Amino acid sequence: MEIRVLGISASPRKGNSLYFLREAVARAGEFPWDVRFTEYDFAGKRFLPCVSCHHCRNHDGDCVIGDDFAALRELWVENDAIIYSVPVYHVGIPAQLKAFFDRLGQSLSAYYGVPSGRPLKVIGTLVQGCHLFGGQELTAAAIMQHAVLLGSVPVAGDRPESYIAAAAWTGGDMGKDSFRDMCEGSGERDALISMRAAGSLVRRCVQTAALLKSGATVWADHLKDDPKLRPFLSRLRDRA
Ligand SMILES: Cc1cc2nc3c(=O)[nH]c(=O)nc-3n(C[C@H](O)[C@H](O)[C@H](O)COP(=O)(O)O)c2cc1C
Repeated sequence: MEIRVLGISASPRKGNSLYFLREAVARAGEFPWDVRFTEYDFAGKRFLPCVSCHHCRNHDGDCVIGDDFAALRELWVENDAIIYSVPVYHVGIPAQLKAFFDRLGQSLSAYYGVPSGRPLKVIGTLVQGCHLFGGQELTAAAIMQHAVLLGSVPVAGDRPESYIAAAAWTGGDMGKDSFRDMCEGSGERDALISMRAAGSLVRRCVQTAALLKSGATVWADHLKDDPKLRPFLSRLRDRA
């Protein structure tokens, strides 16, 4: 069975979020399934906000704004698990990611041809900010809300390192490599704990996606009569 995992670094620069994502994937361990990781990086991309024109509703989900939205939506739709690696911006998610969430949520019903369908993505969050208690949990909670709203399944790593996400801080330093320096240079305890959380989070996301897919394969004949599950079952047909 193939499991596709999309890792999204949601920072406008190639910095701590990208490092956290790559290290998390490297620490996820071995799997008995064919696991394919795809990396997507917000650096250099444009995500403008939804303009509330509702064009997407009547045009198969197509958005009138010509930026990087459609390409990322394609990746989001075709993958089984999504790992967001996010910097904290003013105690929340960066505006670019919020723009993507808003437009994805508005377009998916028409895109799938199913109102409020359930794609059952497994969604995990890596989050870091420069300060301890700088809003990491609130940022992770926003991504959990996105997951639930879009008929998906939020998954965290193993406790006690991971509660609702793998969270980290960069020791008060805003530099783009400050988290790498904490992990590799001084090997600070907080950073190493965050890394353990990140590895287990990716591992649990992959496992959960595999369990969902294998369970759905067993019950496919029964589930196919439920139109809300079509967005999920279409991934089984493609790659059973
Ligand atoms: C606009 C902006 C707002 C920020 N707000 C917070 C914040 O509320 N809490 C915090 O801990 N760090 C905050 N930071 C710091 C970043 O989260 C931190 O530098 C992070 O490591 C950036 O990740 P990146 O290297 O992937 O871009 C903010 C940075 C910027 C640019």
